[in-house]
Amino acid sequence: MKVLALNGSPRKEGNTARILRKSVEEHEDVDLRYHDLVDLKIRDCISCRHCKTHDSCSIRDDMTIIYQDMRWADAIVLASPIYMSAETALLKAVVDRTYALVASAEGGPGKYRPRLAPGKRGVALFTCGNPKGDETLVCVRDRYYQHFAFLGVAQAKSIIVPGLSPGMDAMETVKAQAAVEEIKAFLRG
Ligand SMILES: Cc1cc2nc3c(=O)[nH]c(=O)nc-3n(C[C@H](O)[C@H](O)[C@H](O)COP(=O)(O)O)c2cc1C
Repeated sequence: MKVLALNGSPRKEGNTARILRKSVEEHEDVDLRYHDLVDLKIRDCISCRHCKTHDSCSIRDDMTIIYQDMRWADAIVLASPIYMSAETALLKAVVDRTYALVASAEGGPGKYRPRLAPGKRGVALFTCGNPKGDETLVCVRDRYYQHFAFLGVAQAKSIIVPGLSPGMDAMETVKAQAAVEEIKAFLRG
């Protein structure tokens, strides 16, 4: 199983990274590509629409690696802490740039055709401080189901692990452990 995992937290050993790693590393036959987005230079989408007339992005930066890895992967796992009720800017920049992974389709404005091969799985994993964040931040969770569907990733799972502060070991919480098991089971299929 080829897995691409993106950590959208600036803390490379933080809550998000710990849960993400446990979810993607502990498989018998995993071929893993793991990126800390904080180490990559990925600019915001500039809405030039080059990608609507070409199968490529006009911006030449580290997103090129992510495009290649998304095409390569059987499963794409996007992870981020919640900052001000949303994903981090690090992950949002990647998500916006995946606009280049859909082509314009017949049928007028707003019609798109995914360029990614069908059959991939997608996981979105969020961590947050609010102990009830898994109930109050459902809008973030649900946006990622829409996002994966837009990319043609039909099988998706989006999870929020609540109640995590920077000083703690996320993996000591029951909800983090449950999230890891849920993601592992989903990736196994
Ligand atoms: C700038 C900033 C904004 C945050 N905003 C929220 C928020 O809106 N809601 C929330 O529940 N937690 C919020 N948090 C808490 C983090 O989401 C939480 O501690 C997360 O697990 C940190 O992940 P990390 O260890 O991977 O960095 C915020 C933390 C920071 C640093």
